[in-house]
Formats: sequence, structure tokens, C-alpha cells
Amino acid sequence: MTTFAKGLEGIVAAETRMSFIDGEKGILEYVGIPIDDLARNSSFEETVFLLWNTRLPRRGELAEFSEQVRQRYKVPTALAKLILQMPKDAQPMHVLRTMTSALALYDPSPNANDIPSARAKAMNILAQLPTIIAYFDRHRRGEAIVEPRSDLGYAANFLYMLNGKEPTEAVRRAFDVCMILHADHGLNNSTFAARVVISTLSDMYSAITAAIGSLRGPLHGGANEEVMEMLGEIPSMAAVEPYIMDKLAHRAEGARIMGFGHRVYKTIDPRATFLKTFSKQIATDTGNLPLYEKSSKIEEIMKREVGAKGIYPNVDFYSATTYHSIGLKLDLFTPMFAMSRVSGWAGHCIEQLDGNRLFRPKAQYVGPHGVRYTPMDQR
Ligand code: ACO
Repeated sequence: MTTFAKGLEGIVAAETRMSFIDGEKGILEYVGIPIDDLARNSSFEETVFLLWNTRLPRRGELAEFSEQVRQRYKVPTALAKLILQMPKDAQPMHVLRTMTSALALYDPSPNANDIPSARAKAMNILAQLPTIIAYFDRHRRGEAIVEPRSDLGYAANFLYMLNGKEPTEAVRRAFDVCMILHADHGLNNSTFAARVVISTLSDMYSAITAAIGSLRGPLHGGANEEVMEMLGEIPSMAAVEPYIMDKLAHRAEGARIMGFGHRVYKTIDPRATFLKTFSKQIATDTGNLPLYEKSSKIEEIMKREVGAKGIYPNVDFYSATTYHSIGLKLDLFTPMFAMSRVSGWAGHCIEQLDGNRLFRPKAQYVGPHGVRYTPMDQR
């Protein structure tokens, strides 16, 4: 039996033990634990352990796991030199994708795909993405790179390498929470891309490189940057209503309010529920409350106008205000998403390798048949 589903909508294409989503009820759980509970109580490192081991770690296990990540923060010296040769006007997502691919060049056995090797590579990539992003950002600003510090956790170390000073506890925590919220999300486009690549028994580097390429798209992870651009285009609270109404009026021509709508959620994305309250607090603390208020107004209009169609804020909507409030540059929003989602990508690759079946769907041919070859001079 052949089923055709454009965009693979509604098709179940893999099994996972990591995240559960109920798009109608607005539920997201990692290994059965509600996302809200994890955002309040967990750390990013603990969440990664949970996803990769499908259980919470005991105290000693978490300490050991975190230490293993910290020992891998440094990138190979040759790769650090390569980053410093990147054009300063390159986009960080393109640099991240290229350098993730380049990591394979410094791995003595890049193709090893047995589960222990795949897990070791996953940990290397997870630990080194922040270093790549921070090194490139400092390079393009003409600043000396700041080496990673193995006494700092994942979030604190990234912000330290980026800014040359340790973040405040509030900013570190905000960053850590965002990392938890973005870690995994079922068979989203970039995760599917990673699983498709690894299903050919290709390598972890190729799979993660493909996933980064997918995440960059404005219909996926790139939306958080576009949300911020939209907020920047709206000059005042009074301008919110006409701006949104104008966009909605052009919906048939493809106009979209970025940060709204989701292939799976037909109610508010539970990550957005958490981030809404969270972004209000961090925006207040950092003098960015007007940004939050504009976002809240957009949400109100969208609910009134298209709520009945199931178009609600997704994770990207309030994460834009949060990232801006913690001082992150616009074009680092999506790289930051990648730094977190790499945990989900790698976890899915390991699940795929453990009982692999090659992805090979079919295409519905819609072209002509029986066409005669026309010689070149008769065309
Ligand atoms: N603004 C306005 N209208 C929207 C939006 C939006 N953001 N999203 C969906 N709609 C409308 C469409 O116009 C369409 O209306 P119609 O039925 O009257 O033609 C209907 O809702 C269905 O839209 P589709 O684009 O077909 O739905 P799909 O499941 O493909 O969309 C997507 C999901 C791509 C996320 C879409 O909602 C969108 O483009 N959103 C904006 C980009 C965005 O925020 N992406 C981040 C997603 S979350 C993530 O990847 C981390």
C-alpha cells in the first residue's frame, strides 16, 4: 500500500524513547518528565544525561558525565586556526555547519559507528559546538579568543568564552533553561535529517552537519532570529496592531508571523508557556520589558484573529526576547539552538544505529511517460 503525505505530515517514521509530544493538549515530556518540571529543576547537563540514558543520573553519575563534557571543550588546535581564517562577515550558522563537518578531519576514526564510539563522538561534538561559536564570534569582532574553562558548566563556559567574563547567575540560569527547553523535540525536521543520514551508516559528523543545515531554515530554527527582526520592525506598541493585521491580510501570499504556528502543536507550545513567564522576568531584570510587552500584544492579537485555527506561539517566539535580554547577538540565536539540539540529534542517531533500518521513501512520479528522445538540433 502506498500512502502519499506531503511534508510527511502525520507519518510515523521512527521510534524514540526520548521525547513525547501531544500537540493537541500541549504536552512535551523528556523520558516521561514534563518539560516544565525539567526547566524548573534540572540543568542542561542533567537533561542530556537523561536523554542519552533514558533515566535521571545519580549524583556521582552526573558529576562524572559533566566532567567528561568539560574535558572535551577544547577544539583541536588546527581547527581553532581554521576558525580564525573564516571571513569575518560569514554567518555563524554557516561557520558552525562547516566546522562541525571539519571536526571529523581531526578524529582518527571518524566513521566508527558502534554505539560506544557514536556516544563518544556525540559528547565531543556537544562539548565543542560552543567553542566553535564563541571563537568565531570573537574573531569576527577582532577580539582575541578566550579559551574554554573546564571548571565551568556548559552554559557558563559558553558565555565566558563569548564575553571574556563569567555571566551573572541570573543570565547563566536563563541560558541553561533555554538549553533544556530546546534539547529534543521528536522527529522535527533537523532530527529527521540527522536520522536519515546516519541510517546509511554514515558517520555522526555527517549527520550533525546535515541537521545544522536543516535547523538554519526560517521555517525551523531560524525563526527565532526572524522574530527578533520582526520586533525590531515594529517601532512602538501602537504600531503592533496594524503591523500584525497587515501581515495576516497577506497570509494567502505566504506572509507569516514568525514564532507562531507549528506542524505538531495546535495549541500553545508548552515551551512557549514556560518561556513567556521566564522572558518577562529576565526582560524586566535587564531593562527590556518593552520587548516583552510588544510580544505579549502580538500574542493577544494572534489569539483573537487566528487562535481558532490552532496558530499559537511556538518555542521561538518568547525565546527571542529571552536571548536578546541575556545579551546574545541576533545571528547567534540559531547557533545557540544548535548547541542545545545537538543533544537530541545525537541521541536520535544513537537510537537509529541501535536497530537501524535505512530510510528510503518513494516519490510519486507526476511527469510524462513514453517521451521520445529529441536530438539536440531538433529541440
Ligand atoms: N502566521 C500566519 N499564518 C500561519 C502561520 C503563521 N506563523 N503558521 C501557519 N499559518 C496558517 C497558514 O497560513 C495556513 O492557513 P490556511 O489554512 O488558511 O492556508 C495554516 O495556518 C496552516 O499553515 P501551514 O504553513 O500549512 O502549516 P505547517 O504545518 O506547514 O506549518 C510552520 C508549520 C512551518 C511552523 C508554520 O506555522 C510557519 O511557517 N510558522 C512561522 C515560522 C516559525 O515560527 N517556525 C518555527 C517552528 S518551531 C521550530 O521549528 C523550532
